Amino acid sequence: MNALDLLTQDHQKVRQLFEQAQQIRDNDEKKELFDQIDTELAVHAEIEETIFYPALEEHDELKDMVRESREEHEQVEQLLLEIEDLATEDTDFTSQLAHLEKTVEHHVAEEEEEMFPKVREILDKAALERMGKELESAKGNQMNPGKQIA
Ligand SMILES: [Fe+2]
Ligand SMILES: [Fe+2]
Repeated sequence: MNALDLLTQDHQKVRQLFEQAQQIRDNDEKKELFDQIDTELAVHAEIEETIFYPALEEHDELKDMVRESREEHEQVEQLLLEIEDLATEDTDFTSQLAHLEKTVEHHVAEEEEEMFPKVREILDKAALERMGKELESAKGNQMNPGKQIA
């Protein structure tokens, strides 16, 4: 799969999970959903930071964008750590989750609307396909650490 399609699919998945989280009132279910969001975002950020962004950083015209993105990842990571420590019944949990959703939405919209179109101009289809495979296999390894493919 094309790298940009794979990353966009991840974004969609997280958007859906946030939407679901808004509907849920039960604290245990809310916690479960947050854990899913937490894992999805951690895995997604990891494959971007180790595979996607380094490939972009080879091109001068993308460097600033990647630097900004890496900073936003740090903000998201910080929020995830804060929310991990909160109980779901805590009022801060809901407000911090909403804050997280806004921060993530801002970041993924920037990637989809500004970064990805630029990447499409600079990298050819074959390179994006190759990177897509790399991202996919890295993602598989992250999600199932026990089942590493040699
Ligand atoms: Fe990102
Ligand atoms: Fe992303």
